[in-house]
Amino acid sequence: MTTPTSPAAASSTAASSPKSGRDALIRLEGIKKVFLTDEVETHALSDVHFEIKEGEYVAIAGPSGCGKTTLLSILGLLDTASDGKYTLAGQDVTSLSAADRARVRNRQIGFIFQAFNLIGDLTVYENVELPLTYRGMDAAERKRRVHEALERVGMSHRMKHYPSQLSGGQQQRVAIARAVAGEPLLLLADEPTGNLDSTNGEAVMELLAELHRGGATICMVTHDTRYAEHAQRTVRLFDGRVVEEERSGGKKS
Ligand SMILES: Nc1ncnc2c1ncn2[C@@H]1O[C@H](COP(=O)(O)OP(=O)(O)O)[C@@H](O)[C@H]1O
Ligand SMILES: [Mg+2]
Repeated sequence: MTTPTSPAAASSTAASSPKSGRDALIRLEGIKKVFLTDEVETHALSDVHFEIKEGEYVAIAGPSGCGKTTLLSILGLLDTASDGKYTLAGQDVTSLSAADRARVRNRQIGFIFQAFNLIGDLTVYENVELPLTYRGMDAAERKRRVHEALERVGMSHRMKHYPSQLSGGQQQRVAIARAVAGEPLLLLADEPTGNLDSTNGEAVMELLAELHRGGATICMVTHDTRYAEHAQRTVRLFDGRVVEEERSGGKKS
């Protein structure tokens, strides 16, 4: 399934527009996830196949309990599949050790959660800086990245605040800054507007759309069809299976 491209062609398309015809950044083949609790087996995902190309913005939709968070956790290497194959940027990451998974996650994946998940006793600046510190980045580079990321989300003026001193919408903007500061290959967002009112929800969605226009690859879980329209493509899950993939066109252009 690889498309032959010369090195020159590959590098010239990396930063410019035509986004079709590229290799998949993400490929899931026959992904299954079974949770075992006491004597109950829950088939959270059954035979999921799909791809995300570099620069795509994909929404994952479906009713509560259909497996959206499970799928995102596998994509983000927070959890492993019971069966199937996961290829990320050409690398088979299906059976990496926990330490290797953590390394790939830290460098290549940015997460945005419904509940923001900022650390309460760290400032805005420190929250955005922490994953960069884990990565062993030097202080000057961390500072540059943190400032730039907070600038992008319009939160530079709140650098010394603590999460509890911010509104929900502001906390989510900080969480987005934390996710993008490491320049990940992939941004994963699990119901990022779930804890926000509609005004702040729209603002967060607009910010994600802007990151996408800037070249980010985004996979967002939502159960709200209005928000799925921001994405270029919607993958619909039902009972752990992909039941439909539709092109929405997105609000991109
Ligand atoms: N850690 C777990 N242990 C047992 N069952 C789980 C676990 N996580 C999720 N599940 C089950 O897997 C199914 C899918 O859950 P989830 O991915 O959270 O759905 P969604 O995010 O679409 O609401 C549900 O039936 C849920 O109860
Ligand atoms: Mg969920």
